[in-house]
Amino acid sequence: RPRVLSGIQPTSGSFHLGNYLGAVRQWIALQESHDAFYMVVDLHALTLPQDPEELRANTRLAAAQLLAAGLDPERCTLFVQSHVPEHTQLSWLMECMTGFGEASRMTQFKDKSSKQGSDRTSVGLFTYPILQVADILLYQAHQVPVGEDQRQHIELTRNIAERFNGRYGATFTVPEPYILRETGKIYDLQDPAIKMSKSASSPKGIINLLDEPKASAKKIKSAVTDTGSEIRFDQEEKPGVSNLLTILATLTDTGIAELEQRYAGKGYGALKTDLAEIVSDWAAPFRSRTQAYLDDPETLDSLLAKGAEKARAVAVETLAQAYDKVGLLPSK
Ligand code: TYM
Repeated sequence: RPRVLSGIQPTSGSFHLGNYLGAVRQWIALQESHDAFYMVVDLHALTLPQDPEELRANTRLAAAQLLAAGLDPERCTLFVQSHVPEHTQLSWLMECMTGFGEASRMTQFKDKSSKQGSDRTSVGLFTYPILQVADILLYQAHQVPVGEDQRQHIELTRNIAERFNGRYGATFTVPEPYILRETGKIYDLQDPAIKMSKSASSPKGIINLLDEPKASAKKIKSAVTDTGSEIRFDQEEKPGVSNLLTILATLTDTGIAELEQRYAGKGYGALKTDLAEIVSDWAAPFRSRTQAYLDDPETLDSLLAKGAEKARAVAVETLAQAYDKVGLLPSK
């Protein structure tokens, strides 16, 4: 079975609809057909200041949400990044393979750091994509299911894998991004020119999966729509309506064309009312399943420990090969 690997940050508390539709939904599908590794990337979260207790709680919360969304520990390997120390170990080798200019071109770093000023920006935020390179290469992943905003990081991973293989001989699988055209970028409900995101969106622009259904319904009903009244998918002319159509189509497994037909002659209000209902119908059981996992932290922790053990078996082997290739003396 081909292998997939992906990760999600625990920082946000509740996942949002962009995380789910852009990434997690594909993770669930891929665990059926692939050898799948999924992790909560707590080390990546440290690139911005975190309250220690909150980080710990959010790490469990992230794992609980992944399970509630449909990851099955019998079908995939679910773990916490910091439980597998090989990530940071391989990351050092990867840092030494990466050009400073190459790292400086990462647009996510530029976006995030420009908001903080350079004295408050950590070096970790700068090297963050290189830790991600290590995450992926450590598991010899063939594909990496993510949203569009991660494409550049996968491209960096490919370049570094090829460079390493070229210099030291075949060592790493060169991974492909797995990004769905339809849902790779879910937009902010208030500003459909930007992606839905914890850091950039206003609270009204973002649907958190753990929010009260009423709050989400209200946000959907006040989503920015476009001039005119026709419900049709048109990313250029009607980005707001197109975003709502994408979300509805994905959550109900319906084609966009079919939805356009269904809403022909109807107003934006009808679309929003239906979408609000679909989202809250989806979110209600998700919320209660998440809570059930949180209510039993011992089971959750032991499940994550098992996941880390399985992940580590793979990680140890890749790291040993990489250490050997670059010429580190084995400690015997
Ligand atoms: P993170 O935690 O920011 O986001 C998790 C996943 O959600 C996707 N996503 C979206 N997809 C569509 N529309 C949106 N509006 C939207 N917002 C977020 C992201 O693309 C991502 O797939 N660097 C990664 C975590 C990471 C990782 C890895 C991923 C660390 N190591 C190794 C893959 C492989 C991140 O910060 O994702």
